[in-house]
Amino acid sequence: MELRGPTLTLRYAGPDDAPALFELARDPEVTRFFAWSYERPEQAAEWVAGAPARRAAGELLEFVVVHPEHGPIGNTGLSELAGRDRRATIGTWFGRAHWGTGANRESKAALAALAFRRLGLERLTAYTSTGHPRSQAALERLGFVREGVLRRYHRHPGGIHDVVAFGLLREDWEASSLHDVPIEIAGDPPPAFVVR
Ligand SMILES: CC(C)(COP(=O)(O)OP(=O)(O)OC[C@H]1O[C@@H](n2cnc3c(N)ncnc32)[C@H](O)[C@@H]1OP(=O)(O)O)[C@@H](O)C(=O)NCCC(=O)NCCS
Repeated sequence: MELRGPTLTLRYAGPDDAPALFELARDPEVTRFFAWSYERPEQAAEWVAGAPARRAAGELLEFVVVHPEHGPIGNTGLSELAGRDRRATIGTWFGRAHWGTGANRESKAALAALAFRRLGLERLTAYTSTGHPRSQAALERLGFVREGVLRRYHRHPGGIHDVVAFGLLREDWEASSLHDVPIEIAGDPPPAFVVR
């Protein structure tokens, strides 16, 4: 399936995308707050190769974010699907050159449209390290609501992190500027991610 916004397209990554994703995410600034980092191109290729199985299992529904001129610029997806509770967690990264460009807004609008219009979800959660003010500001300006700090929540090779939890309920989305971004949803979502 594809999610098409005014500028960007979100689609599943294929093997040809792996070199670009590696180049974007090998920058330690990009993965500074993540549990993973890229040192070798094979790591990106392996990750892309495993994506269909993760989608089919309801584990991770990920999209590469594609710019019409620059090609792949980042990655975003839904994890921690809880069907009974109709929620999932949203995560995003962009190459450093694409921060502050509006790509985050459009890609979040696309995933929120998918979640609330097609998957039947009622809530999106986002976590960000307490030491990551840029990500916190980015979420708040899109309408995500700061809900509190979860202590020692993420274990990374470099340490254990407290995280700020943010939530976007369906009604928050409807009241937010994300809802105004026109998003075309083409194709069908993986059945494992449809909760109704
Ligand atoms: C997190 C990420 C997706 C956000 O996207 P972005 O395009 O950088 O976000 P935006 O520019 O739209 O918004 C960031 C806001 O934080 C503000 N900001 C930047 N540095 C800041 C700081 N140190 N303290 C407070 N606010 C800060 C910016 O000014 C901007 O707000 P404004 O537009 O109102 O001025 C992107 O930076 C990224 O990919 N980072 C690397 C991966 C990552 O850390 N992902 C998130 C993990 S939780």
